[in-house]
Amino acid sequence: MINPHFLSEQAEYALYNADCLEVLPFLPNNTFQTIFADPPYFLSKGGFISKDGNWINNSKGEWDKAISPEEMDEFNSKWLELCKDKLKENGTIWICGTYHNIFSVERALKKCGYKIINIITWQKTNPQPSLTSGHFQYSTELIIWAKNATSKRHLFNEDEIKKIKFGKEMTDVWSIPAVKDWEKEFGKHSTQKPLALLYRILLSSTNAGDYVLDPFSGSCTTGVASLLLKRKFIGIEKSSEYYNLSIKRMADAENTDKQEFFKRKVFETADTLTVIINTVRNDVYDNSIEKGISYFRIGDSAGSLLVVPGFEKLGYVMFCSEGREPQLFKLKKRGFRIWSAEELRGKGFSPSHSKFYAVLFFDNTLPIPCVLTDYVKQKIRGGVKELLPVSLVIKKNHL
Ligand SMILES: C[S@@+](CC[C@H](N)C(=O)[O-])C[C@H]1O[C@@H](n2cnc3c(N)ncnc32)[C@H](O)[C@@H]1O
Repeated sequence: MINPHFLSEQAEYALYNADCLEVLPFLPNNTFQTIFADPPYFLSKGGFISKDGNWINNSKGEWDKAISPEEMDEFNSKWLELCKDKLKENGTIWICGTYHNIFSVERALKKCGYKIINIITWQKTNPQPSLTSGHFQYSTELIIWAKNATSKRHLFNEDEIKKIKFGKEMTDVWSIPAVKDWEKEFGKHSTQKPLALLYRILLSSTNAGDYVLDPFSGSCTTGVASLLLKRKFIGIEKSSEYYNLSIKRMADAENTDKQEFFKRKVFETADTLTVIINTVRNDVYDNSIEKGISYFRIGDSAGSLLVVPGFEKLGYVMFCSEGREPQLFKLKKRGFRIWSAEELRGKGFSPSHSKFYAVLFFDNTLPIPCVLTDYVKQKIRGGVKELLPVSLVIKKNHL
């Protein structure tokens, strides 16, 4: 193995500022549980396009300049061939693309002796407005998940992935927003991938302590996800600008408070569930679950419900109480009804703080098994009613 240009203090990650075609031959074989590759899509034709009277440069960078189909096939075959022996026996590789490069990648995968497991459609929940006309708005990218064709069994942490969906199977369509501002604190990369996407990829295909390789590491999103999940990471990036950005991002992501912040953000993706945590007295806990009714006082005093953006996505309620296991239930319908304290008393409750309450109805026949993230546990401990993962809706618990 040739020496990396940067090695972290505890050797959890190493970065090369070089061409991956030159570094890959020197990396050890049979080592990486997963390789994530976000190669050039070769879609930049240079030049400017006009939009609303402004000229916009639509080029991603020199490294992304369009090349001939033959050149693209040759390039994709070269790096995919070099990656193949680096994978562990049960290891897998993920490759990103759009129609510009993905068919070339597919041909190269076949040629090099890989087998496709899935093609993930990453649906961006906040796609860019179209810069040109005559087509539907572009809102997806594809990610091919493949393995060495001779590998019999590959690692897939299905149970871990189901936890994101509160026990449900995850499909091959992932709704995740494109990169947000909090991911660009140290500078921009023109084709940066969202942390939530890499987090999901590594969670599904690696275990703690495993080695992850990214031959086109850019701003090092894969490296940041590796740190969050305690995987070891090797990144290769040709551009010095992006290599320097990677060093800054990685140093920042070593901070444990920052890691908690990132994990919370990762769970704020569009297809995670929005849950309200209702921390109540033991008698209200039992009664609520028996009747399928959850309620909060209305008004602007402490302890009351504040309807904030994100409330419309609320689909679940989690009950917490002293000495009881938190229980999660699905709401029967979106939104809430307003009931008077009298109506609630008629249902066997004893509200005492307000004249009116917001009432949610949930399916009490079916508690949903779930694993609590550290963030949720911390919220429960705080005794705060909160809408997760979007924002705080209850100021304070007074029940
Ligand atoms: C699509 S971007 C990767 C973005 C990255 N996934 C992120 O989240 O920041 C591709 C990157 O590969 C780099 N690159 C292009 N050709 C390369 C090569 N032969 N070896 C190493 N890096 C290369 C480019 O400089 C660019 O930063």
